[in-house]
Amino acid sequence: MRSAWIAATVALVGVGALAVADEPARDDRGWTAVEGGGVAIGLADVLSGGGPYRAPDLNIPLIGSGAAAADLDELVVGPTLLFYYSASCPHCQEVAPEVARLAQRLDGQVAVIGIASGSNSGSDVRAFENEYDLKFPNWRDFTRKYASANEIASTPTVFLVRPTEEGFETLAEYRPFPGGFGVVAEIQARALLGEDPFGAFEEGHYAGTQACGACHVHEYSSWGLTHHSTAYWTLYEREEAENPECIACHVVGFGKPSGFELEQYRSAVADVGCEACHGPAGPHAGERKPVATARDACVTCHDADHSIQFTVDKGLPHIDHFRAAPMSPEAFRAAREDVVQGRAARPLLAFPDGANLGSKACAECHSEQTASWKKSPHAGALKTLKGKGSHKDVACVRCHAVKKIDDPATPKDFHAGGVGCESCHGPGEQHVAAKGGTENIVGLGASCPECVIEAICTRCHTPEQDNDWNLKEALPKVGH
Ligand code: HEC
Ligand code: HEC
Ligand code: HEC
Ligand code: HEC
Ligand code: HEC
Ligand code: HEC
Ligand code: HEC
Ligand code: HEC
Repeated sequence: MRSAWIAATVALVGVGALAVADEPARDDRGWTAVEGGGVAIGLADVLSGGGPYRAPDLNIPLIGSGAAAADLDELVVGPTLLFYYSASCPHCQEVAPEVARLAQRLDGQVAVIGIASGSNSGSDVRAFENEYDLKFPNWRDFTRKYASANEIASTPTVFLVRPTEEGFETLAEYRPFPGGFGVVAEIQARALLGEDPFGAFEEGHYAGTQACGACHVHEYSSWGLTHHSTAYWTLYEREEAENPECIACHVVGFGKPSGFELEQYRSAVADVGCEACHGPAGPHAGERKPVATARDACVTCHDADHSIQFTVDKGLPHIDHFRAAPMSPEAFRAAREDVVQGRAARPLLAFPDGANLGSKACAECHSEQTASWKKSPHAGALKTLKGKGSHKDVACVRCHAVKKIDDPATPKDFHAGGVGCESCHGPGEQHVAAKGGTENIVGLGASCPECVIEAICTRCHTPEQDNDWNLKEALPKVGH
């Protein structure tokens, strides 16, 4: 399951590879500086339709509702979108609502014709039409000639075609038509027909992250290197994806029209996509706000309970929109896999700078927590090793005690007292020197256990050391 997901997501996020640079120059936000700005470098390709394409073969007999029969070349009398599908293919079912919306939006300018593959029966097609409320005519490629003559290997496939003096031409094609590309197809249709392509964006309507990525190639690839790009997967993997208490901060627009809906796990508004920060359609529909307003979105999710001591300045460098721009495809793929596999750093959870002082240094001011900690299994973690004769093995001690120096080489480089306060709260040097404070120590307080606390526990409670780790059972055993 996981590997299939990776294949899909790694493939989805394209790479805009340039030459591999040394350390790239950065702007004052800590973002990679790209020559010419690097914004929306895919625009020209989107507007041109990505062609040229070979002419379509539309000399195809079709069967429609009842006993109706027709030749496709007679049905195409103006700009037409040909939607080829199979009623039983899950991917076709996923994109059907997008195609239905596209047909409505382009009504009067571009005709839409549905062509079901030869394996469908008439009743399959009628059921599909009803299920997705398709208002355009649907035919069947009963001879399978449409598929073979046009070398169609997969469903769903979409062609934008129109008649010319000699026959027909293809303006744009999608083999296959990816989920989330409804708005992109509309942008292309508008551009190719000489209309304002940005008219495809509707105020208040979420276009989906993939649609933004069609033009914003660097921004999209770089987003794929942030934890935001797997935020929904995080819930899915923990079987919390249907939990309404979790979902709102892990997707785009939950509970809003055209925003995320439960169970739509492959939706283009799953994960913390572009429009979670830039709003529906970003700056491309409705009143145009300064791009800096995207900074205001952070704290709606990174609130005190769900993110430790978050500030926009701390977070901003880690959503560098152009990080992928100078990367080679190999470097990109490796970085992407680190994110998908959960190996990528979590900079917001970084401990404060300074030395570990050992748990004794905390006792005078935190007697209550010290008393409860002494009863917890952590306090005896070094004793456990002694029992096994492994208390001299640094490879064991590193998880069973708090280190005194950065690169401990012998057991003497660790504090006595097992898994101490600073294993979970970070080095106390600054905090003790200041006789307290909240910015100089990782206060776990009322934090969302899954969002914040668990990642601290699983630094040691790894699958190898603790394969039946269960946060809900473990946390009450160590709370103070
Ligand atoms: C058809 C191509 C295209 C698509 C699709 C597209 N954009 Fe853009 N976007 C542009 C171009 C070109 C610019 C730069 C010119 C401008 O600011 O309008 C831009 C600029 C922006 C800016 C910077 C605005 C500023 O004031 O500096 C943001 C933010 C943005 N887009 C977000 C989005 C989001 C979010 C989506 C998806 C909902 C999206 N874009 C989809 C082409 C596109
Ligand atoms: C819609 C909610 C939402 C918004 C808005 C949001 N984030 Fe996040 N952010 C998340 C979630 C959820 C995660 C964790 C995702 C995961 O790992 O599965 C996250 C993770 C992160 C991380 C990596 C986590 C770590 O421990 O280091 C950084 C950095 C970050 N966000 C910065 C920002 C910044 C900066 C902004 C505003 C410009 C912002 N986020 C806006 C929900 C949001
Ligand atoms: C976590 C929040 C967040 C997400 C997700 C996000 N952005 Fe942004 N975006 C920002 C912030 C913050 C800025 C910078 C605003 C500033 O400089 O004041 C920004 C800036 C931009 C700009 C202007 C470029 C520049 O150099 O300032 C574009 C274009 C843009 N974003 C597009 C996108 C696209 C496309 C996506 C999705 C692939 C996306 N953003 C995802 C928060 C986000
Ligand atoms: C001289 C007294 C003193 C010592 C020593 C001390 N603390 Fe504190 N600590 C405080 C005070 C006072 C607060 C409350 C901070 C506030 O609300 O400003 C606090 C708060 C905390 C918090 C909660 C922070 C938050 O964000 O809510 C943690 C966690 C903590 N201390 C851990 C430690 C650890 C670990 C040590 C030992 C390395 C330690 N403290 C040593 C005085 C001390
Ligand atoms: C620095 C490494 C480290 C960190 C961080 C850590 N643990 Fe542990 N934990 C251990 C070790 C080592 C043991 C085994 C102690 C022993 O039996 O001697 C243990 C044992 C336990 C136990 C008892 C054994 C069991 O599985 O029932 C619980 C419960 C537990 N930890 C919960 C947590 C929780 C919850 C967190 C995060 C808030 C956490 N731990 C963070 C290293 C760590
Ligand atoms: C990555 C961190 C980590 C390392 C390295 C580590 N441990 Fe542990 N150890 C733990 C955690 C977490 C627990 C608690 C797990 C549980 O109770 O399920 C634990 C529990 C134990 C226990 C008590 C529970 C049991 O399984 O009997 C012993 C004994 C133990 N470790 C010995 C060792 C020895 C010996 C080594 C070195 C070869 C070692 N550990 C290395 C994290 C670690
Ligand atoms: C108010 C918004 C919000 C809600 C509600 C929320 N989260 Fe989060 N979640 C976040 C943010 C923000 C982060 C990133 C925190 C950080 O690293 O500072 C996060 C991170 C996480 C992570 C860590 C991902 C990783 O890379 O390890 C998990 C797991 C998680 N959340 C699960 C949940 C679950 C389960 C729920 C429901 C019980 C939930 N979240 C509810 C905002 C939220
Ligand atoms: C295994 C991880 C772990 C260890 C070890 C640990 N704590 Fe905590 N601490 C937590 C968690 C989780 C919370 C928040 C939830 C709670 O209070 O139970 C917390 C909360 C706190 C707070 C905030 C106030 C409060 O009670 O909510 C203080 C202060 C604190 N710890 C001090 C200490 C001191 C002092 C030690 C060492 C004697 C220590 N902690 C050891 C995990 C740990």
